[in-house]
Amino acid sequence: KEKLMSKLSIPKVIGHRGAKAYAPENTLASIHTAADLGVEWVEVDVKLTRDGVAVLFHDEELERCTGAPGLVADIDFQDLRELDAGSWFGESFTGEKIPTLEEALDVILDRNLGVNLEIKPCPGREVETTEVMLDVATRIWPDELPPPLISSFQHVSLEAALDMMPEWPRGLLMEEHMSNWRDIAEYLDAATINIDGRKVTQDQIEAYLELRKPILAYTINDPQKARELMRWGVDSVFSDNPDLILEAVQLKH
Ligand code: G3P
Ligand code: MG
Repeated sequence: KEKLMSKLSIPKVIGHRGAKAYAPENTLASIHTAADLGVEWVEVDVKLTRDGVAVLFHDEELERCTGAPGLVADIDFQDLRELDAGSWFGESFTGEKIPTLEEALDVILDRNLGVNLEIKPCPGREVETTEVMLDVATRIWPDELPPPLISSFQHVSLEAALDMMPEWPRGLLMEEHMSNWRDIAEYLDAATINIDGRKVTQDQIEAYLELRKPILAYTINDPQKARELMRWGVDSVFSDNPDLILEAVQLKH
């Protein structure tokens, strides 16, 4: 299947929030685990603390991954750092911290991984989150490496990324199929189409394929489903258990 991948070379399997099935999501341990499993890229979620520090975290609420009450948007970094982001997942991860974006990128580079940075802004901070994230990431990421893929469900965040760092590729994340997806993809100059692989239909994929950009599907933990999506034309899947998917698509080294 010929595709215009340009400089973008995205592996078939991307570790979701690191390797979410095996380690507490969006922690340094999770990134290391993904690397240990032979994954080439990881996806992580980036948001800001109240005082504007870019950290890896998925939810608005602290509760699920730390046991603490309240919102990420309402806590300062210094206090967030006191929280245990590991023991909810397993005793052996006790003491794992919520990492800063900077710490995460250092590990990602150390482990020779590529990365999809998903901008996951707290409501109202769509532009600011992009700005801080790109400030940090452009400072750390070496020019000679393929750049991170920047994605978001918040198209305002992607618009800010287009303004600030047009040469870093953007992935248009969609929760649902949108009838105007093509206009949005063109407006944001999207390099990839990132869709919910659990909901997408083969017809929708046929339409996305016309754009001739890589199609990435989240979050696929069933190896058979991954194979089906790839038969339909999906290029890459995000997975919590990337090792099982790697095995199924016979890419395991
Ligand atoms: O970027 C793919 C996937 O991570 C999007 O959904 O909620 O897991 O961030 P979510
Ligand atoms: Mg995500």
